[in-house]
Amino acid sequence: MNEPFALDGRVVIITGASRGIGKGTAHAVSRSGGSVVLVARTADDLEAVAASLPGPSRVVVGAVEDPAVADRAVAAAAELGDLWGLVNNAGISPYYHPAAETSDDEWDHILRVNLRAAASFSRAAIPAMAATGRGGRIVNLSSIAAFAGLPNIVAYNATKAALDAMTRTLAVELGPTGILVNSIAPGTITTELVGELMDANPALAEKFVSKTAMGRVGTVDEAAWPIVFLLSDAAGFMTGQVMLVDGGRLAAA
Ligand SMILES: NC(=O)c1ccc[n+]([C@@H]2O[C@H](COP(=O)([O-])OP(=O)(O)OC[C@H]3O[C@@H](n4cnc5c(N)ncnc54)[C@H](OP(=O)(O)O)[C@@H]3O)[C@@H](O)[C@H]2O)c1
Repeated sequence: MNEPFALDGRVVIITGASRGIGKGTAHAVSRSGGSVVLVARTADDLEAVAASLPGPSRVVVGAVEDPAVADRAVAAAAELGDLWGLVNNAGISPYYHPAAETSDDEWDHILRVNLRAAASFSRAAIPAMAATGRGGRIVNLSSIAAFAGLPNIVAYNATKAALDAMTRTLAVELGPTGILVNSIAPGTITTELVGELMDANPALAEKFVSKTAMGRVGTVDEAAWPIVFLLSDAAGFMTGQVMLVDGGRLAAA
């Protein structure tokens, strides 16, 4: 066994790695000895992340909702070694209005990016992980939105709850193979995604902080390192779980 929290030689695909939690996770995995495949749509940002990492990486430019991009990511991972991990992190929340005003096109857009893409990346990655014979890890980025009826982002909330359902199903199906599947559910983490929401509704910023037991929002690193834990041998008997990283947000009544 490696040092339990180390990822030496492990190859991990991270979607949405050009900024925010995905970028932070790329740094944390790389600092832990892993190699990373960075996936997102913005080539310049991905190249900048790759250049700043201490370890090996590959860049795959494309939209996660295109299943061909998942295949390209798995092929890029093979250039780095045996595939160990997949972090389905890419996610969007571009609309902010009541459920009754949410259009089918908006639903379809969020479902494609937040949910279906995680399914197609998992489908592409599982055979490559299984072929190694040593198992692997899938980490899905859920949210406290899966547990609470946060107003004005109904489709986002629904995709996160559905991701957790997928996590449990994959965990049961893949348990015997040693591929462990978990969700991580952050509270409010300071990234562009949250910035856009706060800009759309400034009262939200105050609400996010006041509802969190720790009295503050979280940093990208505080979301990224728990993901490294789930990718590591230290989490070797965990599967089908949703791990909250929310500063006590859901603990509060
Ligand atoms: N921040 C929070 O407070 C928070 C809380 C709970 C859960 N989460 C979840 O954590 C994940 C990351 O959130 P974040 O706050 O880090 O978001 P972010 O800062 O907006 O970053 C999103 C990342 O996803 C990529 N992306 C977006 N759409 C894509 C697409 N169609 N194809 C490929 N890549 C795409 C973006 O890159 P490009 O634009 O270059 O493609 C970017 O790298 C999301 O799943 C989010 O729901 C975040």
